[in-house]
Amino acid sequence: MKKIELPDDSPMWHRDFQFGVATSSYQIEGGRYQRDDCIWDLFCKKPGAISDGSDGDIACRHIEKWREDAELIVSLGVDAYRLSVCWPRVINDEGTVNEEGLAFYVDLVTWLHNRGIKVFVTLYHWDLPQCLEDKGGWLNRDTVRAFARYVDVVASALGDKVYAWATINEPFCSAYLGYETGVHAPGITGVKNGRQAAHHILMAHGIGMKTLRACCPGGIHGIVLNFSTCIAASPSAEDMRAAIQADAYHNHWYLQPVLTGEYPDILLSLAPEERPEILPDDMALIRQPLDYLGVNYYSPTVYRDNGKGSFIAQPPRDVPVTDMGWEIRPEAFTELLVSLHQRYQLPPVYITENGAAMHDILVNGQVHDDDRVAYFHTHLNAVDEAMRQGVDIRGYFAWSLMDNFEWAFGYSKRFGLVYTDYESGRRTIKQSGFAYKELITRK
Ligand code: FCB
Repeated sequence: MKKIELPDDSPMWHRDFQFGVATSSYQIEGGRYQRDDCIWDLFCKKPGAISDGSDGDIACRHIEKWREDAELIVSLGVDAYRLSVCWPRVINDEGTVNEEGLAFYVDLVTWLHNRGIKVFVTLYHWDLPQCLEDKGGWLNRDTVRAFARYVDVVASALGDKVYAWATINEPFCSAYLGYETGVHAPGITGVKNGRQAAHHILMAHGIGMKTLRACCPGGIHGIVLNFSTCIAASPSAEDMRAAIQADAYHNHWYLQPVLTGEYPDILLSLAPEERPEILPDDMALIRQPLDYLGVNYYSPTVYRDNGKGSFIAQPPRDVPVTDMGWEIRPEAFTELLVSLHQRYQLPPVYITENGAAMHDILVNGQVHDDDRVAYFHTHLNAVDEAMRQGVDIRGYFAWSLMDNFEWAFGYSKRFGLVYTDYESGRRTIKQSGFAYKELITRK
């Protein structure tokens, strides 16, 4: 049996370092008819949008099975659990509070808190109310104000039972995939749209931070960004430039304004009609002091020059990949963390997502996912190495607690430490779940 091991002198054995598991609302909840529509409900109906034609209507039935799931979380021996709140489960289309929906989160968070689990709540993990999308969604500045109200409602209800709050999960995905390439909900395309959506989402982060500080002064507050280490396809000057540009466009576009109040210079290389509209106080709003930065990391991306002075991603060739086709290169994780640390004055960092989809098979009630155990082993050691090189990392969350709805890939990709049988709803801890538990129990 493969194990996840860390050196005896690892800084991760510090008693305050937190090991956790993560999920998000739309991906696991189900309970579709106990709330109003979100953008994913409609997007999933578009022919071809989701590779297996599925949706999140039922998902992992977490709304019904939350007590069982909460026990499962405790049984894994983790210190912390990261979940997200579904905005339209809390605020109805008319703008009133869905009391039953809000109570679901209050019960769940209270239960976990009482059992000593540190709860990390993400306020926006992509399930925008469809009624707001109908008015332009993240292309409309008014959505920023609507977000502040929603944050106020959730933060006032959950209060200090939440250890850490995150305003937004991965603005890159919401903005770029949702409004620029259109492969995620709401399926809108165009550079200007992507940039404008990103700007408003970052403003929502800013106003969300202010609201959280007012409502929950006892918690720690931050944002979760995803990063992919950008690697040049060759040492040629063109490819090196392409990798730097991709890094600016996909990574620093989000982190830099949040920390410094400025977009990277690559903004100026966009045609004027493609640039976002930025009003005078916007950048100051976006730049709020952070208590922590959440980093989601899965793989590096190799870029080459596209022959037109820009960059293009090169699909992995002859290298190990996960079931998503994402390259497995743990050193790139260390490199990313160290390079962010060298470039910015970072607040403390939590690795809020890291994990791998693998082709899992349930046989006689067991899943022998050695490949996932190996992924966790090498990537946790990559975090260990980054800490040794001076990066202040306070916790690590495995993505994901259980197999769930993987966005445009539907249920065809499994990321869980726990296997989900979607027919029966049965959960089975995989070998990786046991290995993770064994690692953490050493603490
Ligand atoms: C991240 C998302 C998360 C999950 C993983 C695989 O981009 O935050 O919801 O789908 O990828």
